[in-house]
Amino acid sequence: MTSNAVAFAPGRANLIGEHTDYNQGLALPFAIAEGVTVHARALSEPRIDAVAVDLGKRVSFGLDRVERVDGWSAFVRGAAGELLGAGVRLAGAELEITGTVPRGAGLSSSAALEVALVLALLAVSDGAARPDKLDLARLCSRIENEWVGAQTGLLDQISSLFGQHDRALRIDFRSLDVRPVALDLDGYRLVTLDSGEHHAIARSGYNERRAECARACSELGVSSLREVSLSDVDGLPAPLWKRARHVITENARVEDAVAALERRDFDELGRLIDASHASLRDCYEVSTPAVEQAVFRLKRAGALGARIVGGGFGGHVLGLLPADARSVEGAIEVRPGDGARVSDA
Ligand code: GLA
Repeated sequence: MTSNAVAFAPGRANLIGEHTDYNQGLALPFAIAEGVTVHARALSEPRIDAVAVDLGKRVSFGLDRVERVDGWSAFVRGAAGELLGAGVRLAGAELEITGTVPRGAGLSSSAALEVALVLALLAVSDGAARPDKLDLARLCSRIENEWVGAQTGLLDQISSLFGQHDRALRIDFRSLDVRPVALDLDGYRLVTLDSGEHHAIARSGYNERRAECARACSELGVSSLREVSLSDVDGLPAPLWKRARHVITENARVEDAVAALERRDFDELGRLIDASHASLRDCYEVSTPAVEQAVFRLKRAGALGARIVGGGFGGHVLGLLPADARSVEGAIEVRPGDGARVSDA
């Protein structure tokens, strides 16, 4: 325990494997340099005083009764509530939150906030046994599911906690095996471009997509879409067959992308990224005209592949650019960076 601590948790980009996490599938994300920082100072009273510097907002509440509310402070209350629920003897704390990852833009600002809050609170709490990274990911995901109202999977939290410099992470959401894969791009660059359209996941069509996948499973009598193949889902009613088709083909694209990276076959990687986008647009139906425009701009500049990342319905587009691609205004290079960390202040 320390009386002052600084926790940083990164956002993530996802090379490929979208809307597969809550279907026990595969994904290939990486942590990025941008993220959320929480400065924590232990208080002698059992209370949390938090300030979100970028939002210009504050919240204060006692640890004896952590209430559920709407709005940004649900993250802070959820972090305290879930840690208390996990049996952590939580100290009161003053928290200052700042961030560099764009909010509601498909780069996992929410998970970065949850992970940084939880690590900061644990660091200033007496004798708190630190849960392992997978348990921390699950705890942070409960903040999102039960306090914020977004029925997200574990993609973002695992990426933020397990991120490694120069590595993507092949995550199997059935076994929760996390395998680092060298992301050596040989002069190619990965960039993200903002579509300009931003939503809170809980208010987008995300929860509806998750419910559709659950309906497809119950029609097929299976516990997850990982257990079925394309021929099994063809007879499902619309739109369920399309949703399932996306998930099954996307899992296969993740395996193909890992193999393409290992052979340094960037043309194939670009083709897989394009195929992922087409499937997200046509089968999963999470693209929008603003997203299509961002994809078009990257492709016109010479991207080998470009696709929507994250929950969908807006947000950022990821592009794989060769060294001689034309520059695209607003595109930001992203590189795989280290996962969440804590230091004494
Ligand atoms: C959001 C969610 C993740 C994942 C992606 C889509 O980022 O938080 O759990 O489902 O969307 O791949």
